[in-house]
Amino acid sequence: MEDIFDKCKTDAGYFGQFRKMGERDLTRPTMDPKPGKRMTYNGNEVVMWSVNNYIGLAENEEIKAVAAEALAEYGTSAPMGSRMMSGNTQFHQDLEKKLAAWSQKEAAYLFNFGYMGVLGIISSLCGPKDTVIVDRLAHACILDAAGMAKASGSTIRYFKHNNMKDLENVLQQVNAKREGGVIILIEGVYGMTGDLADLPGICELKDKYNARLFIDDAHGVGVVGEQGRGAGDYLGVQDKIDLYFGTFAKSFASIGGFVAADQDVIDWIAFNARTQVFAKSLPMVYVKALDKTLDLIIEGEDRRKKMWENSNKLKEGLKELGYYIGPGESPICSVFTPTGSDDVNGVGARMVKYLRSKNIFVTAVVYPVIPPGLCMFRMIPTTSHTDAEIQQTIEAFRDMKKDMDLMDSVTDDDIAKITKVYRNVKK
Ligand SMILES: Cc1ncc(COP(=O)(O)O)c(C=O)c1O
Repeated sequence: MEDIFDKCKTDAGYFGQFRKMGERDLTRPTMDPKPGKRMTYNGNEVVMWSVNNYIGLAENEEIKAVAAEALAEYGTSAPMGSRMMSGNTQFHQDLEKKLAAWSQKEAAYLFNFGYMGVLGIISSLCGPKDTVIVDRLAHACILDAAGMAKASGSTIRYFKHNNMKDLENVLQQVNAKREGGVIILIEGVYGMTGDLADLPGICELKDKYNARLFIDDAHGVGVVGEQGRGAGDYLGVQDKIDLYFGTFAKSFASIGGFVAADQDVIDWIAFNARTQVFAKSLPMVYVKALDKTLDLIIEGEDRRKKMWENSNKLKEGLKELGYYIGPGESPICSVFTPTGSDDVNGVGARMVKYLRSKNIFVTAVVYPVIPPGLCMFRMIPTTSHTDAEIQQTIEAFRDMKKDMDLMDSVTDDDIAKITKVYRNVKK
C-alpha cells in the first residue's frame, strides 16, 4: 500500500534533484540575516543583487528607531488575536487610512503577508458563477488564488503574458456565456522579468467587457510612480484599478501587505478574507514602523532617482559586455545567458558559483520558469549600491565570460525564446 511519504524519498517535486543531491548552496544558501547591498555569505562579504530592497530602506536607521521604540513598548506579541476579536487597534485603522489616501482609493485593509493577502482577497470575492482571468506569467500567489477560486466553483481562464489580443479573445468567449462576475488578475511590474503590465490596454479591455481588475504590484509599489504609488500611477491609470495590492516585503523592507479599493469592497474583504479574518493581526512593531516607512516612501523621489541611475549603469555595463538584458521597463535587471543544456548542475549552476566566488551574490532562474537552454539572473539594483560595487559586479561578469568560455552572445533563436517569455507565453 502506498505511503503518503513515499514521494519524499524520490527526486520529484520542486528542485527535487537538488534536494535529493543534498545540494543547499543554490537552493537554500545560509545567509547572515542583516539585509542590504552587502551581506555575509559563507563568511565572506558579498555584493548583494538578490534582495528586493529597492530604495534602500532595509538599512534605514529612522525606521529601526521607530521599531525599537515600539518593541520596547509593546513587545513582539501585541496585539493578541484577530482583528475581529481583540487584535484591532486605532494604529491599524490609521495606517489603513493613510495607505488608502496615498493609493487614491476610498479604503485599505492590512494583511500579515502579501501571499496570504492575495489568496484571501480573491477567494473571498470569487464564487461558483464567476470567472477569473489570469496572466500566464503571474506570481505563484496569483495562480494559487485562482486555484482557490476554482475550488469554490469559479471558472479559470488564462491569457498569454501581456498579450491584449489573447486577453480580448478570452473576454469575448467568457462574456458569450457569462453568468457571474469577471476579474482579471495581473502583476503591475512582473517580478521575474521586470516588464510592466500593459495597464492602459488591460484597463480599456476590462471597461469594454465589464470586468474588474486586480493588480498585485509587489515590485511596483514604492518603486515607480509619483510618491512611489506604483505601476497604476506610473502608467496613468490608477483610478481604473479596482483592487490595488502591494506587499511590504520589498521596497517597504518589512513584512505584510495591503489592498486598496472602494469602501464597500474593502468592508467585504475585511469580513470575508479568511486568510486574515482567522489569523492574528499584524504586530504593533510592524504597524508603527510601516507608518514611518510610508512617509519615507512618499518623500522618496531622490531615493528612486538614485535607484534608476544604478539600474541604468548596471544594465549598460552588462550590455556592453555582450550580455542580453531583458526588455523590462522597470529597474529590475534580468540577464539572460544561453546554457546549451538543461542539466541542473550545468552552466547555470557553475555561473552562479563563479560569481559568488568573486563575492558577487546572484540567484539564477532556470527552466521551467524560463525556456530550456537559458539561464536568467534576476538582479535587483537598489538605491544603496555604489558605483564601486556596480563596477566590481561588471568586472566579475566580464571575467566569467572569459574564464568560462561562455557563448559570445545570445542567438536569434534564444532571443525568440526570450521574447516568448515576455510577450507570448504558450499554453
Ligand atoms: C508578485 C508577488 N506577489 C506576492 C508576493 C508575496 O509577498 P509576501 O512575501 O509579502 O508574502 C511576492 C513575493 O515574492 C511577489 O513577488
